[in-house]
Amino acid sequence: MKLTLPRWFAHRGGGSLAPENTLAGIRLAARLGYRAVEFDVMLSGDGTPVLIHDETLERTTNGVGRVCDMPDSELFALDAGHGERIPRLAEAAALCRQYGLLANVEIKPAGGFERQTAETVAHQARALWHGAEVMPLLSSFSLEAVEVARDLAPDLPRGLLFEQIPADWQQEMARLRAVTLHCNARHLDDDTLAALKDAAVPALCYTVNDPEQAKKLFERGVSSLFTDRLDLFASETSAYKGLHLDG
Ligand code: G3P
Ligand code: MG
Repeated sequence: MKLTLPRWFAHRGGGSLAPENTLAGIRLAARLGYRAVEFDVMLSGDGTPVLIHDETLERTTNGVGRVCDMPDSELFALDAGHGERIPRLAEAAALCRQYGLLANVEIKPAGGFERQTAETVAHQARALWHGAEVMPLLSSFSLEAVEVARDLAPDLPRGLLFEQIPADWQQEMARLRAVTLHCNARHLDDDTLAALKDAAVPALCYTVNDPEQAKKLFERGVSSLFTDRLDLFASETSAYKGLHLDG
């Protein structure tokens, strides 16, 4: 397993400059020089993995109802903003490979679909990135989903995702053989950060849209940040070679 972590990840596809979790967003991130992009993946009513954040369609599309109830024929006819469609994971993967972007695939199961979502994403991710130079980083708030990814796609790097890092993070990292730890920037305390550093575990923080906050987090030793404000940090994306992990 080899993983190079860029400093900046475009959050939810393209952040706030393009409709979130769309191919237009990923293209924009690449055009602005980003080397990594995070997006959320959930199953449609037909079990197709698609890029969307919420369990319901209302906030980001002109549709109504639950993503997990929506057949593909209706889901892919929806407008996800500026005429963009909800992308399949397969389309996002192809774009990331084309641009050489590191994809952080956040497995975002609708409640009750943890295992099924992780199984589908793990299988597809293995096939979609087969032979790729840059492998995707799979992560999830659902530890069950990460466990499934570990078992079905052991060669793909995994990250644990927490709102706030729990006391037993080290056991969970070991159990799930995860290589990165992702958390909300607001809840990362210095003691935990020091322990992460001692364990050589990179900390990745979401969601940082303020340059002062970003500067402080990097000074404190955070490895990478997720941002919606692609415009603010584009100039920092190319200067830094990235943190290389080998294991
Ligand atoms: O994966 C990091 C971040 O995206 C987690 O929060 O709610 O934006 O998916 P959310
Ligand atoms: Mg996310």
